[in-house]
Amino acid sequence: MRDQFGREIDYLRLSVTDRCGFRCRYCVSGAGGPFLPEGDLLTDGELERVVRAAASLGVTRLKLTGGEPLNRPGIAALAARLGAVDGIRSLTLTTNGAALAPLARGLRAAGVREVNLSLDTLDRARFLALTGVDALDRVLAGLDAAVEAGFERVKLNCVTGQDLGQGDPAALAELALARAVDVRYIESMPIGCGRTFHPVTRAQMLRRLTDRYGPLLPAGERGNGPAEYYRIPGFAGRIGFISAVSEPFCAGCNRIRLTPDGQLKPCLQYRPTLDVRTLLRAGVSDEALRDALREAVWQKPRAHQFAHPAAGERLEDRPMSAIGG
Ligand code: GTP
Ligand code: 5AD
Repeated sequence: MRDQFGREIDYLRLSVTDRCGFRCRYCVSGAGGPFLPEGDLLTDGELERVVRAAASLGVTRLKLTGGEPLNRPGIAALAARLGAVDGIRSLTLTTNGAALAPLARGLRAAGVREVNLSLDTLDRARFLALTGVDALDRVLAGLDAAVEAGFERVKLNCVTGQDLGQGDPAALAELALARAVDVRYIESMPIGCGRTFHPVTRAQMLRRLTDRYGPLLPAGERGNGPAEYYRIPGFAGRIGFISAVSEPFCAGCNRIRLTPDGQLKPCLQYRPTLDVRTLLRAGVSDEALRDALREAVWQKPRAHQFAHPAAGERLEDRPMSAIGG
């Protein structure tokens, strides 16, 4: 599928639940809820139908997100079902990691190729203050289990924000020393309660990492998405940067998103533009569903504008936890 700016859209992010036990300060405010009623979530069958339609239009990569995707009952079976759709070549998942240890093998067996875990600090007290949950040990156990389960890539997502209370995020890079785990630094984005934080920028992180570990060398490889990767000599894993604030990557954007209640979002910063759930529940034909997806993709905004949103565009008002990042 192409949009009106000539971008090829081949990556669909599916948020499969809005529930998450974590309360990360840049992601969700207060108690997190109220959550969507069960009946508002797309069923496994409905998700499969959307994926079939999208795959028939050229989507080859799927990302499962949340909330916390492992909170959705039967997530491994759902992953297997979606990954088996004709045309899907890559199925990956992003998780808070807390419930990953017991599920990692099953997800790998279900065909999930890569797993991303959120981890912003290695200090237990800071972790608790930042996420609201004393779960650092469980996340680290999830990381070990992911490495053992043999995913093609295991990546850590570290959101960097001034005043987040995460200590020095450069310490996390050490998790990439002995094992082929990628550590990625993500500038906190001004979406939902992320608006309260200023990012520690890629340039600032690069300086801190260089001071600590010596020069970082461009890895010259790209993944599925916006991350740019570097290598530190002697480290088994890579260091990545996702710098949507200081160096936006919209010109190369390859993705669309579906919220848990089936709303299609052509751009992270703007509200959904297509109510897929209502179409599905009204008995839409395959052809009409494809047409609707094609049209929504065609109208994908040229760029997000964190500082100066486009006039007339409707800004997203859901928290990140209900979008899936
Ligand atoms: P892979 O490299 O395929 O694993 O994908 P990813 O890095 O995009 O996935 P992940 O779910 O780990 O997201 C990492 C960060 O990138 C999160 O902070 C997301 O919000 C952010 N991100 C993902 N897609 C976009 C996008 O289209 N625009 C912006 N601005 N940020 C994005
Ligand atoms: N800015 C940047 N990344 C965010 N995430 C959640 N909220 C924000 C934000 N405001 C990240 C999480 C998770 C990914 C899916 O999105 O850390 O790893």
